[in-house]
Amino acid sequence: MLDVIFDTDPGIDDAMALLFLARARRVRLLAITTVFGNATIGTATRNALVLADRFGLAVPVAEGAAGPLVGEADPPPTFVHGENGLGNIDITPSLRRVDPRPAHRLIIDLVRANPHQITLIAVGRMTNLALALRDAPEIAGLVKQVVIMGGAFGRNGHTGNVTPVAEANIWGDPVAADVVFGAAWPMTVAGLDVTQQTIMTEAFLADLAANGGEDGRFMRAISRFYQDFHRTSAGLEGFYVHDSSAVAAALRPDLFTGVTGAIRVVPNGIAIGQTILKPDGRTYPPGPWDNRPSHTVLTGVQSAEVIALYRDTLLGA
Ligand code: BDR
Ligand code: CA
Repeated sequence: MLDVIFDTDPGIDDAMALLFLARARRVRLLAITTVFGNATIGTATRNALVLADRFGLAVPVAEGAAGPLVGEADPPPTFVHGENGLGNIDITPSLRRVDPRPAHRLIIDLVRANPHQITLIAVGRMTNLALALRDAPEIAGLVKQVVIMGGAFGRNGHTGNVTPVAEANIWGDPVAADVVFGAAWPMTVAGLDVTQQTIMTEAFLADLAANGGEDGRFMRAISRFYQDFHRTSAGLEGFYVHDSSAVAAALRPDLFTGVTGAIRVVPNGIAIGQTILKPDGRTYPPGPWDNRPSHTVLTGVQSAEVIALYRDTLLGA
């Protein structure tokens, strides 16, 4: 059983990843924590509560950071995720209450209470994780593993989606991301290198809508806005599987290959948010990668199997 805390900025693909977790048999979801990014923090938290209701998840939802560690939050990308962050589908407000603790405090409490048990899956800005490390650095040695969606390392030709060299989750809080990559916790990084290798097509969504019951119809409804964005921005019929790839990597690491090494993030300038790996075994003159922990950067993915895993999980196969 995988005990998971899901840190998220819902977000269309965040909603899909949460649904994936909700239906995965081997997952026990312990909490949802929210962060600014795809939407303002207020909208992200509202969406997390709505999604928890819809997916039948009786777990705490804690609100996290409203902006990056340094500077101000950028306006939410409503052209990607819609004005309401969920592709402008109709939303039934939730009557649930948000957990009284800030997200990073809930993360700390749960990790301390469940030493070496928790898989932290983070698919938004890394701000909550950085705040948790700042308040309780010992959690780095107490989590089972951290799996994130973020970054782009130039593998398979994927270098950036908000700039030519930066991926959105890292670009949105590069200082926090550099803190998180600097922590000596077992960490797997699903960047654009693998997430842009896997695509959900219209045919896949039509099949889910026909055979996946309520969940399948939800997937199709929430996809439309996202599909339009991918069509106009990338000429893609379908969309990249970002956040659900991090979930897949936690569920089925055997579907991925990777390289290990130390990671730094460019904190400012035109390359702000760029993630740069120094692979283990390569030596350079002394530099900013020295004495940093080694993490696993995913570079290869069995895309068809990831798509099949998503479908099978939703259909209960
Ligand atoms: C990441 O940015 C967000 O738009 C998505 O939810 C995903 O986490 C992709 O770059
Ligand atoms: Ca996200």
